[in-house]
Amino acid sequence: MQSPVDQDITAVATARWATAHDARLSEIMQALVRHLHGFAREVRLTEPEWAAAMTWLARTGQISDAKRAEFILASDVLGLSMLVVEMNHDRDPGATPATVLGPFHIEGSPALPYGADMADGIGGIPLYITGVVRDISGRSVDGAVLDVWQADAHGIYEGQLDAEETRLRAKYTSQPGGAYCVRTIAPLGYSIPMDGPVGELISRTDISHYRPAHIHFLITAPGCQPLVTHLFEEGAPYLDSDVVFSTKSDLVVEFERHPPGPTPDGGSSDAPWLRAHYDFVLQQAATH
Ligand code: BEZ
Ligand code: FE
Repeated sequence: MQSPVDQDITAVATARWATAHDARLSEIMQALVRHLHGFAREVRLTEPEWAAAMTWLARTGQISDAKRAEFILASDVLGLSMLVVEMNHDRDPGATPATVLGPFHIEGSPALPYGADMADGIGGIPLYITGVVRDISGRSVDGAVLDVWQADAHGIYEGQLDAEETRLRAKYTSQPGGAYCVRTIAPLGYSIPMDGPVGELISRTDISHYRPAHIHFLITAPGCQPLVTHLFEEGAPYLDSDVVFSTKSDLVVEFERHPPGPTPDGGSSDAPWLRAHYDFVLQQAATH
């Protein structure tokens, strides 16, 4: 009897995984075996290298928990997360581009009214984000929910602190006519977590481990596809080297500087403030 190594081990392993009961799982597993074997052959993977890879994967699992998604971070820095986003959002050229969700989104943010302050006393330069939510045909979308979250002026998210209180995240609803207004503070760009297996690997390269300053949005509205995206500050460091490949020129907006005085929410600021203006364009929900 011939053992699998006497035969073409790739063909034998592929045929075994083709027996998966679900047709899609069978397709995925066969392709995975083919590409993994092809990769090992291409680099002539040695046994110590294979063992190092197994240890790295095990440590990536061990450091992960409800607050830390090290495998997703690995996917992000390899460009896989953004590739999957792009393949799955066949985008009308007029629609706002989608990006990765990232690890810092927290469910259940509080609903705030038009123009309310989601920074609620956290220090930083006041920032108003204003615009209209539309659909691809140009109609304004009323009642869209904009779930917004961001890092603070030091580049830290709520999820990275033992915070008892909600921090720099809220849900806003677009008004009749589609207008929205978020009041917050300017975020700072930040480093991805570098104290784990992903960081160790990155520190053996010349890859920049920073993300440019940005604010995250998850926008949902009846009849429209949900949109996960970011807005980036024009001129911010690291726009050209975002470690998770999510910067798109369509998502870079000017943070206009304004002197103390009237603000877009109808109020007034004693301090200089910033304004970012952006109209989100949602795609129609798939009809099948
Ligand atoms: C973020 O923007 O929050 C993020 C995305 C991917 C990896 C790390 C952070
Ligand atoms: Fe972020």
